[in-house]
Amino acid sequence: MTFREDALAGQHIVISGGCGAIGLGVVKKLVAHSARVTMNDIVDAAEAQKRLADIDPGKVQYVKGDLTQLSEVEALIKTARKKFGAIHTALCHIGMVMSGPLLEITPTQWDQTMAVNVKTAFLLGQAAAKSMLEDQILGHLIFTSSWVAETPWPEIGPYNASKAAMNQLMRSFARELADKRIRANAIAPGIVSVGMAKHQWDTDPVYKSRASKAIPLGHMQPLDSVSDAFLFMCTPAASYMTGSVLTVDGGCSLYPMD
Ligand SMILES: NC(=O)c1ccc[n+]([C@@H]2O[C@H](COP(=O)([O-])OP(=O)(O)OC[C@H]3O[C@@H](n4cnc5c(N)ncnc54)[C@H](O)[C@@H]3O)[C@@H](O)[C@H]2O)c1
Repeated sequence: MTFREDALAGQHIVISGGCGAIGLGVVKKLVAHSARVTMNDIVDAAEAQKRLADIDPGKVQYVKGDLTQLSEVEALIKTARKKFGAIHTALCHIGMVMSGPLLEITPTQWDQTMAVNVKTAFLLGQAAAKSMLEDQILGHLIFTSSWVAETPWPEIGPYNASKAAMNQLMRSFARELADKRIRANAIAPGIVSVGMAKHQWDTDPVYKSRASKAIPLGHMQPLDSVSDAFLFMCTPAASYMTGSVLTVDGGCSLYPMD
């Protein structure tokens, strides 16, 4: 996809979980198109700086924080606005997965998945939207969902449920905030060639054999196709979208091929 290098000039974008495999690709793409980015994660500052080594330090700041905690979400928003001003777009991007048959999943695993995947998205979406209203910004909340929100993948039941919850959370934000001109959308990637899916592909032969049959386009999803979807969603080209899930999954959700 081609957008001008200044497609995001003047935009301040906040991303949670930005130090992960997909997050880093997204941040690089957004900065390459002139956005300023405040990036959150739970990794130490030194590790984050290492991962950000090839990004212009004037265009990105790192804020460490566990976003399951409201106080840390509030600190993120405050630090973000202090350095780069009003927030235009917030990417609720944190995610984690725990594998196991539903009959063996513990209440603790369930609670942790919901806290990391759904609660962080709710807290950041809410805090970012409040800041947009205060700053009189026509803002945008973008949630990182997954194709498995609609097509359950075996042995990651809590994750499937968390992404379905996220889609409905996104639609609820979209419905309630439309009259304030704050939009909400989601992006649903497929089986990506970096990050959590790649880790499982490399370490779990049963997953690999199942996943290798599940992608109609025939190969794992390139990182660039995910970051291009984020770029599109952050530009004015997506300005009439609200309440939508943009599925970019190589056809995984068409039918169960595994
Ligand atoms: N990799 C895939 O195939 C795939 C497919 C569809 C959707 N997704 C989604 O994309 C997003 C990124 O996935 P990824 O594969 O890059 O995973 P990843 O594990 O590389 O990145 C997730 C990041 O979130 C951070 N994080 C976890 N808990 C946090 C917390 N409480 N506060 C702040 N940061 C926290 C982690 O430190 C990590 O850097 C997730 O939402 C995931 O569900 C991934």
